[in-house]
Amino acid sequence: MTAPIDFDRLWIKDYPDLGTGPVSTEPCISAEYFEAERERVFSKVWLKAGRVEQLPNPGDYFVLDIAICKASVILVRGNDGQIRAFHNVCMHRGNKLIWDHEKTGNLRSFSCRFHGWSFALDGSVRAVPDEKMFYSLDKDNCGLRPVALDQWEGFLFINLDPQPKETLKAFLGDLGEHLSGYPYAEHSNCYSYRAELNANWKVCLDAFSEAYHVLMVHGQTVGQANFSRENPMSHCFDVQLYERHRRAVVYGNPKFQPSPTGKVAAQFGYTSTVRGRGMDTLPPQINPERRPEYNFNLCAIFPNFMIQVRPGEYFTHQFWPLDHNRTIWEGRNYLPPAKNAGERFSQEYSHTVRRNAWLEDTSAMEATHAGLSSGALREFQLSDPEILVRHGYKVLEDYVGFFRERTARAGAAR
Ligand code: FES
Ligand SMILES: [Fe+2]
Repeated sequence: MTAPIDFDRLWIKDYPDLGTGPVSTEPCISAEYFEAERERVFSKVWLKAGRVEQLPNPGDYFVLDIAICKASVILVRGNDGQIRAFHNVCMHRGNKLIWDHEKTGNLRSFSCRFHGWSFALDGSVRAVPDEKMFYSLDKDNCGLRPVALDQWEGFLFINLDPQPKETLKAFLGDLGEHLSGYPYAEHSNCYSYRAELNANWKVCLDAFSEAYHVLMVHGQTVGQANFSRENPMSHCFDVQLYERHRRAVVYGNPKFQPSPTGKVAAQFGYTSTVRGRGMDTLPPQINPERRPEYNFNLCAIFPNFMIQVRPGEYFTHQFWPLDHNRTIWEGRNYLPPAKNAGERFSQEYSHTVRRNAWLEDTSAMEATHAGLSSGALREFQLSDPEILVRHGYKVLEDYVGFFRERTARAGAAR
C-alpha cells in the first residue's frame, strides 16, 4: 500500500531560493530580450533536432531551420552509418544547399544549384566544376561546415556553438538519467502537428508547464480524467527542479470512468484516459512506487523542448522562436506500431483525445500574448502549482542576464 499523496503540498519549500514574488512579463514582449536569447541561449546550448528513426539509411537527411539563430542545419546519415550535422550552406559562395521544398529525402551527395559544387555525405568536397580555373583551391578546407551533434536515447541534439561548453550528457544531467530506459525506439509511430502562433515562445511553453489550467481548459473533455474529489485542481506531484530542466508528475484520476468509446478503446491498449495500467512498462525510476495516480511525467528540457512519458505512448512539444512575438509549435505523439486492429483502434482513440487536448491548450496562447503586448500586465502572479513556470524564467535569466545587467547599469549611473 502506498502512502496517500499530499496534493496541497507547497513545492516552494523545497526550492526556497526561487522566491515567491511576481515575475516580470518583459521577457515575453521585449525585442531586446529576444536578441539576448538568440546570442546567449539558442546559439549556445544543445537543441533537440530530431530522432534517429528519421534517418534509417545512408543518404537519408532532413533539414532543421532555426530561425532565431538565422541557421539552417542538415542532418544526414553517411555511408559509414554515422549521423552528422552541417550548416546548410555551400562553401563556394554561400548558397543554401537544400532548398525549402526538399527538406527531407535521400541523396548520394549534396549538389549546389548555383555553380554545381558537390559534397559527399561526410561533408567533404566531391567535385568542383571548372576546378582548374581556381587559384590553388584547398579543397580539404572547403568541406561543409560541421555542427556539433550528439544523441541521447535516440534523440538527436545539435549545438550551434562551434565549441560547445559541455557534452550533451552533462547538459541533460539528472533529468537525462531519469528519463533513460524508456522504450523510445519502439514508439516509432509518430503523429505530428505544427502551427505558427502569434505568441512569444515562452507563452507557449508555459501553457504546457502547469496543470492549473486543466479545470478551465480541459474541464469538459480530457480534464475529467485528471482531477477528482481528492485532487480537484489537478495538482501535480513529484516535482523536481534541476539546474536547467524541470519535471512534475501530472495527476490522473484512478477512478475515472471513460466514455463508452473510451472503454472499448481501453480494452486494447493503455489509452490516454485510462489510469493505473501498464506502469510496469516504465523504467524503474519513473513512477517508482507504481502509483495509479501517475498520468505522465511532464518534463521540460531547457530551453524549448518537452518530453512527456506514460505507459503506451510518449509525446513531445517543441517551441521554435521566429521573433519575439511569433513561434512555431510542434506537437508529436509517439506510439508503438499497432500489432492488430484492436490496438490500432485503441491508439487512434488515444491519439485523438490527445490531439483535441492540444487544440484546447493552444487556443489561449495568441490571446495571452496579445494581452501581454498591451503592457497592461507588468508581472505574472504565479501560484505554487505554477512553480515550473517560475523556474523557467529563473533559469532563462541566469543565461540571459537582462535584468542583472540592467540593475548593474542603473547602479553605475548612480
Ligand atoms: S554557391 Fe554553391 S556552387 Fe557556387
Ligand atoms: Fe493542457
